[in-house]
Amino acid sequence: MSPTLPTHVKLVEVGPRDGLQNEGALIPTADKIRFIQALGKAGLTHIEATSFVHPKAVPQMADALEVLASLDLSSNSPITYSALVPNLKGLERAIDSGVKRIAVFTATSNSFTQKNIGMTVAESLTTFETVVQQALAAGLSVRGYVSTAWVCPYEGQMPAESVRDVTEALFNMGVDEVSLGDTIGAATPVQIQHTLSVLLNKHPNYLSALALHCHDTYGTALANVMAGLQMGISTFDASAGGLGGCPYAPGASGNVATEDVVSLMDRLGINTGVDVTRVVEATALMETLLGRPLTSKTYQRLRTVKTESCV
Ligand code: HMG
Ligand code: MG
Repeated sequence: MSPTLPTHVKLVEVGPRDGLQNEGALIPTADKIRFIQALGKAGLTHIEATSFVHPKAVPQMADALEVLASLDLSSNSPITYSALVPNLKGLERAIDSGVKRIAVFTATSNSFTQKNIGMTVAESLTTFETVVQQALAAGLSVRGYVSTAWVCPYEGQMPAESVRDVTEALFNMGVDEVSLGDTIGAATPVQIQHTLSVLLNKHPNYLSALALHCHDTYGTALANVMAGLQMGISTFDASAGGLGGCPYAPGASGNVATEDVVSLMDRLGINTGVDVTRVVEATALMETLLGRPLTSKTYQRLRTVKTESCV
């Protein structure tokens, strides 16, 4: 293994939130819980379970409270569950739920942020100052997202300097991790590395607290993960089955599939603590529940191997 690659990678499973938020048909709460449990059995220790957003904005997340009520949110649990929170109302609901980790989410582009959460980027950062302060005071930990970190569906290519500035603002207010989103899956590996260089040249100490969140519109998400890995990034968001998308980002397709990331790390000799065959079982469950085929490469391959071994 190349000495420059990390030896351990943390995966943040976003399937129950990003993966399901774009599904048109409402998935019964009990099925979401089964999916989350299957992901936990695969060894995923960070699972973004739901969102405290307006139910009209994302109807699929209306059952956030019920989903979290069925999970072990205690500090003894080996799994950290988290939920998206866009404002103080969302924080109030999150605190009531007992969830211990939240994620605030903004972007580099005003057009996207306006459509997504009804605020400019600057307004979102002002809102989050209070949200993060109150969340930390209530004993919660906070992650931050910077969406459209490379390309905005409305404004096109975004400057790396904007990513740097928004990331700085989030860390300065007290988030412990920032996930950079290739929201519409349009970045190339070279662009991933350029933006990371601009950010890390000024703030080398951010490295261990940065995550990459790659959507897979053009099939380059796994290449982008590799590009991040080569820059020393060791936290990646992924979604079982490659599900996902944002209702306010036209053109956004699924996330990089968890099973594809785990399989890549396994073959690179990098430890994730996740059992790829169990992730495939979670994907198979969701495929059955959704009633349509899920097509990640690793899922197709391991499902075939299983079928072959049964013959
Ligand atoms: P708004 O309508 O501007 O909210 O929505 P408002 O503050 O004007 O309030 C209007 C009403 O909404 C009030 O109720 C509030 O109480 C209620 P009323 O007094 O009229 O009865 N309200 C809420 N209810 C429940 N939960 C809340 C909440 N806030 C206000 N949190 C808002 C603003 C932010 C709520 C809305 O635009 C929204 O929910 N947006 C969420 C959009 C979303 O979830 N997008 C997908 C996630 S982001 C993503 O996918 C990208 C990511 O994956 C990374 C990447 O890929 O790049 C993270
Ligand atoms: Mg996303």
